[in-house]
Amino acid sequence: MTAATAPAAALEVRDVVVRFGGHLALDRVSLTARPGEVTGLIGPNGAGKTTLFNVVTGLQAPQRGTVLLDGRDVTRLAPYRRARRGLARTFQRLELFGLLTVAENVELAASVRGRRRPGRSADEALELVGLRDLADVRADELPTGKARLVELARALATGPRVLLLDEPASGQSEAETEEFREVLLAVAGEGIAVVLVEHDVQLVMRTCSQVHVLDFGRVLAAGTPEEIRGNEAVIEAYLGAAPGVPA
Ligand SMILES: Nc1ncnc2c1ncn2[C@@H]1O[C@H](COP(=O)(O)OP(=O)(O)OP(=O)(O)O)[C@@H](O)[C@H]1O
Ligand SMILES: [Mg+2]
Repeated sequence: MTAATAPAAALEVRDVVVRFGGHLALDRVSLTARPGEVTGLIGPNGAGKTTLFNVVTGLQAPQRGTVLLDGRDVTRLAPYRRARRGLARTFQRLELFGLLTVAENVELAASVRGRRRPGRSADEALELVGLRDLADVRADELPTGKARLVELARALATGPRVLLLDEPASGQSEAETEEFREVLLAVAGEGIAVVLVEHDVQLVMRTCSQVHVLDFGRVLAAGTPEEIRGNEAVIEAYLGAAPGVPA
């Protein structure tokens, strides 16, 4: 049983295994994300972070393990059906429609939202990420930092319960990252469970309530940022070499 004080998990990944040929990309990985919190997922290149997102969204079938959304097993559901149950993501490589405006990109996402799901309008999503002024600009004319916010607005317009962000701060300036952090906290504040994959460890440590560390497809550690910072195995495998962490 979950303690009465902790909100139930919106996303639960249990014992997921993914093999690519002889390569074990995910080795019994478990992770929990709660509504209203930003949950961090960090680890070296090739650790399996994006693969885990692919398993959660249904782009990659696991050989073993379970994915639960709001307590319901969605492991075998098609990606679009998971989206209708409130799962949204952004991609490590930006995937915007360059010839469409910012508003059109976000409106498209709002229009594919399941009819029964409440969600915010494209306008509200743009407002939440602070992009209203750029609504009529073509997506391919945006600097990377702003384009990443459009991706976020697009995900928000689908009315998610669980939001997976794959390196959303990459290509952002320090000022943009700071702004982005405020947006993330506002998004979580709306009761969304946010999972953040990010190499900017400072951003993760300052924003997340729980952090999971993946290394060679395994969860090396999970805990609060303080616990992770002090974990010898994590320091050795990742933090010692991670950008943005003072020696
Ligand atoms: N479709 C695939 N076929 C074969 N191998 C794959 C496939 N997708 C990922 N891999 C391998 O699985 C491992 C995990 O990759 P993944 O992209 O999940 O890592 P990551 O933690 O997201 O890394 P990065 O921080 O560089 O984005 C890597 O060794 C990668 O080469
Ligand atoms: Mg990745």
